[in-house]
Amino acid sequence: MIITFAEIDGFKNLSGISFQPDVKYNIIVGPNAQGKTNLLEALWILSGCRSFRGSKERDYIALNGNRMSAKIKIYDSLREQKIEMTMSRSAASPKTIMLNGVKQKGSRALFDVFKCIAFIPDDTEIIKGSPERRRSFIDMAASQLNPVFVVHINKNNAIMNQRNALLKEIMQGNAPASVLEVWDRQAAHEGALISYMRNEYVGKINEICGRLYKTISGGSEELELEYKSNVFRPEDFEKPCGEEAFEQYYQKLRDNADYDIRTGVTHAGVNRDEILIKINGVSARDYGSQGQIKSAALVMKLAQAEIYKKRSKEAPVIFLDDVMGELDESRQRFVFDIIRGMQTFITTPNESALLPEIEGKIMRISQGKLTEE
Ligand SMILES: Nc1ncnc2c1ncn2[C@@H]1O[C@H](COP(=O)(O)OP(=O)(O)OP(=O)(O)O)[C@@H](O)[C@H]1O
Ligand SMILES: [Mg+2]
Repeated sequence: MIITFAEIDGFKNLSGISFQPDVKYNIIVGPNAQGKTNLLEALWILSGCRSFRGSKERDYIALNGNRMSAKIKIYDSLREQKIEMTMSRSAASPKTIMLNGVKQKGSRALFDVFKCIAFIPDDTEIIKGSPERRRSFIDMAASQLNPVFVVHINKNNAIMNQRNALLKEIMQGNAPASVLEVWDRQAAHEGALISYMRNEYVGKINEICGRLYKTISGGSEELELEYKSNVFRPEDFEKPCGEEAFEQYYQKLRDNADYDIRTGVTHAGVNRDEILIKINGVSARDYGSQGQIKSAALVMKLAQAEIYKKRSKEAPVIFLDDVMGELDESRQRFVFDIIRGMQTFITTPNESALLPEIEGKIMRISQGKLTEE
């Protein structure tokens, strides 16, 4: 999949940007705070995902402006498609999404159309950060492979919000404890499905990460990912997800119900899962060096790209924000080998830090404006 045309205006500090990307490498060069990451972010949101750096939608529009638009043409093995997103401060419905000229109900419509993978410096938080960061990495990656996963995640979140609100009502004596059971049945259904999907994805990514990390570390180190379900043991996943799994999950919620009511929060289930990341058998979060953590995060993203490419026969577009210039030559070459054949956007303040074989379109960005060389 490649972007053949992009136009961005009014997104954060970007204005009047219009270009035809190179089919392979696009190098975006500029000093700090000129709009390099903003450019990647504007393209990224057209995949239907939320900002990769956690920006709120209302902050997409330039501070001194009223409207933003981002448009791309993408080309995959089947056809060319057009995606356009506009947002305006004043309109009653602030966001519109058009796919091939047809107005869409929500961002989810784009999920199946434009696939991209971004690597940003903050991704080391997948390893160093809270369990929630790891869960959301796995959930996002698995959703990219199978969009129905998002439906289950959203349903589960909605049920959990209801359940937690209800716990507080029960705690205060405003509702009987028996009403919880209905929610627990539903939570068990969604939660078991999510657990099984997470387990499957972690199994897949673990295999590829193991191989890639061995290479990036010169054959000397092992990277392992392990899914720690809050409800199921590893052997439970050998059977397919069905009634038995729903029941097991339901029982776990019931067993915790009294404790949950006393504290007003849900303690069991997928919202408490962990994904253990180990280097040479010990927790990377607790013992990893900065270089190990950086390499492990990079490898996890590259593995995500590989899984996606293998499954869909279509390569995702790759965004590397401030990553390449930070890697030594052999690590850059390693990344290069994996992304070969995928359209890539690379940002850097200093192009001389890039490998000479990264040839492609060089674009300079200054105060939100782009010039091509
Ligand atoms: N809503 C907004 N409206 C206008 N400008 C914004 C908005 N949000 C962010 N900016 C500006 O965008 C600029 C930062 O852009 P960006 O993060 O893309 O920089 P960068 O080129 O990636 O820099 P670095 O090399 O430091 O990562 C900042 O000057 C910031 O003030
Ligand atoms: Mg940046």
